[in-house]
Amino acid sequence: MTVTTRTARAVQLSARPDGFPELSDFRLVEQPVPDPARGQVLVRNMYMSIDPGMLMQIGAYPGIPLPPFAVGATMFGDAIGEVVASADPDVPEGALVLHRFGWREYAMAEASAIQVVDPDVYPSPSSYLGFGLVAYAGLTAVASLRVGDTVFVSSAAGATGGMAGQIARLLGAGRVVGSAGSAEKVRHVIDELGFDAAFDYHDAPLAEQLRAVAPNGIDVYFDNVGGAQLRAAIEVMNVGGRIALCGALTRQRSGGLPDEGPGDLLPVIGKRITLRGFTMLDHLDLAAEFGQRLRRWIADGQLVQTETVVDGLENAPRALLDLVRGHYTGKVVVRLAR
Ligand SMILES: NC(=O)c1ccc[n+]([C@@H]2O[C@H](COP(=O)([O-])OP(=O)(O)OC[C@H]3O[C@@H](n4cnc5c(N)ncnc54)[C@H](OP(=O)(O)O)[C@@H]3O)[C@@H](O)[C@H]2O)c1
Repeated sequence: MTVTTRTARAVQLSARPDGFPELSDFRLVEQPVPDPARGQVLVRNMYMSIDPGMLMQIGAYPGIPLPPFAVGATMFGDAIGEVVASADPDVPEGALVLHRFGWREYAMAEASAIQVVDPDVYPSPSSYLGFGLVAYAGLTAVASLRVGDTVFVSSAAGATGGMAGQIARLLGAGRVVGSAGSAEKVRHVIDELGFDAAFDYHDAPLAEQLRAVAPNGIDVYFDNVGGAQLRAAIEVMNVGGRIALCGALTRQRSGGLPDEGPGDLLPVIGKRITLRGFTMLDHLDLAAEFGQRLRRWIADGQLVQTETVVDGLENAPRALLDLVRGHYTGKVVVRLAR
C-alpha cells in the first residue's frame, strides 16, 4: 500500500447564501490523507460531476429530495476515481469506483459506500457520471412514452435533456423537439443530437414557438426547468398528455425564488394531463435494464454523450455557477487527476 500524497484539497461551503451563490461562499481547504482503516478504501478522484441540484443543497431549499450541504463541511456529489489503498478484501487497489464523495481530490470511504465498475464499458471514466438513467426513467416509468408520441424536452442541450431527447427517439417517439438557451445550442441539439426541431426559449411567446416546432401538439413533456416553459407545454399539450417533472432550473437560476409553476390548472383537467414529479432515486431498479440498452446504443453509434470538462478542483465552484448560468453544453465534469 503506497500513499504518496500526505494532504489533498477539498471544497467546503463557507456560508449559506441568500440567493444565487457567489464564489466567496466556497472555500478550498487542504486536508490530511489518512491510511484506510479496516473495511475502508482510499480513492484518488479522477472526475466529479457538477449538478444544478447542488444549488438547492447549497441554499437548503425546503422540500428537496437531497440532503443540504452543511456550512463548514466538505461538499459531496457523484465522482469516479481509482482505489489507491484498500483495507477491504473485496475492493482491489487499482479498481475504478463510483461514489458520492466528490468535491475532494482524495476520498476515504467505507467499501460498502462505493461501487466498483467495469472500466471497459464506456469510453472514458468521466462518461460514467453522465449515463442518463434519470432521462430513461422519466420517459418510461414516469411519462409512459408510447411509440409515435411527440416529445418536448427543455434544457435540451444540457446533460439530462440531451439524453432525454436521444433516448425518446431511440424508444420510438414520432417527433422530438427541444428548447435551449442560444442559437448555437439549438444547432447542437438538431445537428449533433438528432432532435427534429428546437428553439431558443428566450424568444417569446413560448407557446407560439412550441406550436411552430410541434404543429400537432405534444404528448410528452420532459421538464427540466419549470416556470414559463411548463406553462407553454401545458398550453400546447394534447389530450392525455404526460409531463415528467424532473428539474427546476428556473428556480435554481433565480437563486431559489419560488417558481410560479404550471399556472391555471383548468387546461390540465380539460386535457386529462398527468403531471408527475420524480427523482432518479425512485427508479434505481431500472439501472440494469437501462445499462444494457445504453451499452448497445453507444456501441452502435446511436447515442452521443456530450461533455464539457473543466480542469482542477479549484475551478469547481465557478463551474457550478456557470453551468446554471448556461455557459456549457452537455454533461459538465471537473477533472481532478489525469
Ligand atoms: N429528478 C432527478 O432525479 C434529477 C436528476 C438529475 C437532474 N435533475 C434536475 O434536472 C435539471 C437538469 O439537470 P442537468 O444536470 O441536466 O443540467 P443541465 O441541463 O445540463 O444544466 C443547466 C443548463 O440549464 C439551462 N438553464 C438554466 N436556467 C434555465 C431556464 N430557466 N430555462 C431553461 N434552461 C435553463 C442552461 O442552459 P441554457 O439556458 O443556455 O439552455 C444550462 O446549460 C436540473 O434542474 C437538475 O437539478 C433532476
